[in-house]
Amino acid sequence: MNKLEWEKKFDTGIAVIDGQHQRIVKYINELHEANDQNVEREKAEKILVKLVDYTFTHLAFEESLLIESGYQYFDEHKKSHEDFCKKISDVEEKFKNGQNVAPILAQLLSNWLFEHIVQEDHQYVDCVKEFFFEN
Ligand SMILES: [Fe+2]
Repeated sequence: MNKLEWEKKFDTGIAVIDGQHQRIVKYINELHEANDQNVEREKAEKILVKLVDYTFTHLAFEESLLIESGYQYFDEHKKSHEDFCKKISDVEEKFKNGQNVAPILAQLLSNWLFEHIVQEDHQYVDCVKEFFFEN
C-alpha cells in the first residue's frame, strides 16, 4: 500500500485535533512501512504500541472536548470511536499471533481517514469551535 499523505480535506480546522489526527496517520504509515519492509518484530512492536497508546489518548481527549461543549451526537461519536478501538485491538492481536497486519491496516486507514475524520469529526466542528473559541 502506498503511504497516505495528509490532505486539506481531512482538516477539521481545530489545530489541536488536526495535529493529533496527523500523528495517528503518521504512526499507522510507519507501522505499515515496517510491515512491508519486514523489519525486526521488536521494532514493529514498538511502533504498534506507540500507535495504540496515542490513539487511545487522542480519542479520550476528543471525547472530553465533545462532552464539555455539549455535543448532541456524543453517544454516536463515542460508539464510532469504540469501533475504531476494536479494530486497533484486532490488529494488535493478529500481530501478537505473528500474522501479517498490512491488509487490516489498509482497511483501518481508509475507514479512519475517509469515513470517520471527514464525515463524523467534521460534524462536531461548529459545536466545539463555538464553545471553545467564540464564548
Ligand atoms: Fe472522532
